Amino acid sequence: MNILDQIGDTPLIRFSGEVPNNNRIWLKLECDNPFGSHYDRVYLRLFKHFEEQGLLRPGATVLETTSGSAGVSFAGIGTLLGYKCLVAIPEGGEKAREEAIRRAGAELIFTPAESYVNGFPRFAARFLAKNREVVFLNHSMGPNGSENGVAVEALGTIGEELRSQLDSVDCFIAAVGNGSSVLGPARMLYPRTSIVTFESFQSATAYDLLYPGEYERLYGIAPGSLPRHQLPGTSFPGIDFPHIRLAFKDEQLVERTVLVSDERTNDQYLALTGNLVPASLPRWDTVRLPPYGRTTRAGLAVALHLAEQMENKNIVLLAYDKEDRYDT
Ligand SMILES: Cc1ncc(COP(=O)(O)O)c(C=O)c1O
Repeated sequence: MNILDQIGDTPLIRFSGEVPNNNRIWLKLECDNPFGSHYDRVYLRLFKHFEEQGLLRPGATVLETTSGSAGVSFAGIGTLLGYKCLVAIPEGGEKAREEAIRRAGAELIFTPAESYVNGFPRFAARFLAKNREVVFLNHSMGPNGSENGVAVEALGTIGEELRSQLDSVDCFIAAVGNGSSVLGPARMLYPRTSIVTFESFQSATAYDLLYPGEYERLYGIAPGSLPRHQLPGTSFPGIDFPHIRLAFKDEQLVERTVLVSDERTNDQYLALTGNLVPASLPRWDTVRLPPYGRTTRAGLAVALHLAEQMENKNIVLLAYDKEDRYDT
């Protein structure tokens, strides 16, 4: 079977650990896609779309910017289709992720660690002005900051599959990255399903959109005041991502967003404010869930937290990627 035919239709498995209040927690195994994440769905369609639009000549050089798993899927699928793939990634991230991107066939271009994802728009504008033959796929937004409809529809298939895999999807939990894995499935699941998102305590980008000013009032610092967090691919302050704006504001699909912390967050917050992060916030680093990666552990921490507050429900989270994409 062709590798590309194996993308999507991912398994849904039930979490076998203890869950309170007769709730059931399910993991949608996006990490079982051939290149290891939900982004396989996106690039399968994005490459096809660019080809159909006549924007890609055979053997063209293609560029993508990423802090997360998108790079591996882009590199794997682009290389299979015969393109030369360049992946721009901020310095100082997980080496395991960089290696996986290289193994999938792409060349890496490092952007400055300090500006992190916020440095991408400037990098891309300069790079493309100098390298006019390179085609930029830009999965996180369409032209001029609009929705990338192809990417969102591709991730909508997760919601469609869930509806056929469970009698009722009562609660769907996704991480906030650029908003795509929230918006795509949520459009298919809302309003029957309650959509809950999470992000690191350090960023609180979506939190500030949903509950304006509350973070600063509760925690005494502005969102994004703490150093870079440990959940690569998720939440970064400072970019107006259209898929976040659509899911949280324009379409109001998200019912609730939860902040997650870890030991390092606690240390950083203590050093800055003299206070501890409230113990009521779920901690992802205390949850063990081999073979899944940190974001999935964080999703499970959130699911267990929600399970304390509801009864006899199906709670679904995305298993984004596996441990092998992280250094420790
Ligand atoms: C491990 C991981 N989890 C979650 C996400 C969030 O996905 P998205 O930005 O597509 O919503 C990403 C994004 O790359 C990721 O790499």
